[in-house]
Amino acid sequence: MNAHTKSDAAHSAFADTAEEAIALQEAQGDLMTSDKATEQAMQNTLLTPRFYTTDFAEMDALDVTPVRKDWDDLIAEMKSDPNKGHFKKTDEWNADWEGMEPKLKAEFIDFLISSCTAEFSGCVLYKEMKRRGSNTDITTLFQLMARDEARHAGFINDALREAGIRVNLGFLTQQKKYTYFRPKFIYYATYLSEKIGYARYITIFRHLEQHPDKQFHPIFGWFREWCNDEFRHGEAFALLIKTEPKLTETSMNKLWIKFFLTAVYSTMWVRDHQRPLFHEALGVDVTWYGQEVFRKTSEGTKQIFPFTLDIDHPRWRPNLDRMEAASRQIAAAKERGGLCGFISRVSGMAKAAIAFVSVFTIPAIQHVVPESTRMEPTY
Ligand SMILES: [Fe+2]
Ligand SMILES: [Fe+2]
Repeated sequence: MNAHTKSDAAHSAFADTAEEAIALQEAQGDLMTSDKATEQAMQNTLLTPRFYTTDFAEMDALDVTPVRKDWDDLIAEMKSDPNKGHFKKTDEWNADWEGMEPKLKAEFIDFLISSCTAEFSGCVLYKEMKRRGSNTDITTLFQLMARDEARHAGFINDALREAGIRVNLGFLTQQKKYTYFRPKFIYYATYLSEKIGYARYITIFRHLEQHPDKQFHPIFGWFREWCNDEFRHGEAFALLIKTEPKLTETSMNKLWIKFFLTAVYSTMWVRDHQRPLFHEALGVDVTWYGQEVFRKTSEGTKQIFPFTLDIDHPRWRPNLDRMEAASRQIAAAKERGGLCGFISRVSGMAKAAIAFVSVFTIPAIQHVVPESTRMEPTY
């Protein structure tokens, strides 16, 4: 059944739970499937979005009492559901897939599939936490976040469907490999991905506000409200981290935070540089964009992390570029295969590792963490 023939209430944009949103998306998919899109979403490499599982009992035992006031305010805001109905096409939707240059179209589809998988990855993790938990504070939050991510993934799937493509969300849930992360690693990684997601969406949105002629697809017009959802999710994780001071205070955990910051930033850099036409079409210099997103993300993470990465250090950008070159070498070597391919692949991995260590060992910029984590979106 097609989305346009259904009433508004029967669209994932209006769903109150993740389960409902997914079911509505699945119900639309009968006419078209795309094995290739789902196959891409199934990939588990260093650069593709993964699905996570964790020790749900440990997460369920979190006690939000130390941040109760901020917590209740945030949950109330999420319950009020300011974006209900937002993630649905309107009359302003004017996608022109036919008019899109084929190579740009390929990169854009790659971007949408990767974004859809990342959104849905959040959804499955949050939904599972909601299902397994018994702590009402925790299950309420995770249910609300799963709802948002299901709508986001559903909306991207709506956009892809017009190009004859669909990521099979039900299939992914059952068949994609899940990576186990200890809860504290989930907090660091998920907090960062929510904050960086906010920075990415708002940077593109603000750029297109200045250059409306560059908006080559209508989905970018939905990014402002979208990034506010991600902002709230990031706030929630900041509060969760705040409940356990040792998560940001012990030397070992500080090293882990630095590791996750470095890994998340460099992965984004490498991945974005693989889509030159996409960024060119937006009129965005990909290097400027990367640094701008890091700057906004670092500004945000000051709410909870006691340091930020020095992204203006002379070793920073050259080594990110080395990682990017190494990742291209690894991909080409994989393609080539055989002994030569193997040797080239190993050498590419060594180059990437050396560059990573060089970035990781740049001294961080220390600062004092504020008493309250609460922030307002400022960009
Ligand atoms: Fe999202
Ligand atoms: Fe999110």
